[in-house]
Amino acid sequence: MNMETLTRGILIAVEGIDGSGKSTLANKLRDSFQKEQFPTVLTYEPGDTKLGKQLRKTLEEKPVPVCGQAEFLLYAADRAQHFVDVVIPALTQKKIVISDRMSDSSLAYQGYGRNFDLSLITMINKWVMHDIKPDITLYIKISTKSAVERLKKRKGKPSSMEQEKEAFTKLVVQGFDTIFANRPDVIILDGEQSAEMLHKIAHANIIRFLKDKKLFHEKK
Ligand code: ADP
Ligand code: TYD
Repeated sequence: MNMETLTRGILIAVEGIDGSGKSTLANKLRDSFQKEQFPTVLTYEPGDTKLGKQLRKTLEEKPVPVCGQAEFLLYAADRAQHFVDVVIPALTQKKIVISDRMSDSSLAYQGYGRNFDLSLITMINKWVMHDIKPDITLYIKISTKSAVERLKKRKGKPSSMEQEKEAFTKLVVQGFDTIFANRPDVIILDGEQSAEMLHKIAHANIIRFLKDKKLFHEKK
């Protein structure tokens, strides 16, 4: 069997507004990499640690008042624990780590959405992430209209976006578009395409990155 090994861990972030198809793409990528024998971890922010689950509940349900500044710091606290408990250990084990949201969500939602200081957010992100940056960021770009339509159809719990004001979402979209405009580590994907097509393009781009950087070799 053709087994691939990585020369180091790889961090992939999936970003975009709620309903853009992040979870769908992240799941498909995890499945295909696992099939190809790449050790892969699928994770997400906020919420994929014991502390994160409590923070996510607080952020979603707001059982007590949470001001905007505190909200940002809760996302940052979630990220800090996420790196220590999940991301850094998996990277040390030379795995592919796929995270459904990461630091750029704070820049887009809290920075551009809430108009908080971008350099402060960038500095805190850097600190809680131990100076580790995603190797590749997949940005699923989609219209607010399509995302809202999909969320209405999605089974299960309604997303927080359904309660958010359209004006806020527009700011977040503008934020993502601005952040990702000139970043060489970002792959911009047209979210209106089928989930299969998105997966195919994202997968091909990641494999090309690994080959270009000589980050994997065949295990006999
Ligand atoms: P997110 O994680 O960004 O909120 P999801 O992956 O949960 O988005 O997708 C939101 C909804 O849209 C789900 O019902 C999902 O099945 C559907 N969906 C995801 N990707 C696509 C796509 N490319 N085309 C059409 N529908 C999609
Ligand atoms: P998520 O579970 O990814 O929602 P969805 O699957 O619907 O896209 O994220 C929950 C919410 O958290 C989402 O509305 C975006 C928000 N968020 C921030 O505002 N800042 C952050 O730093 C992160 C990670 C998420």
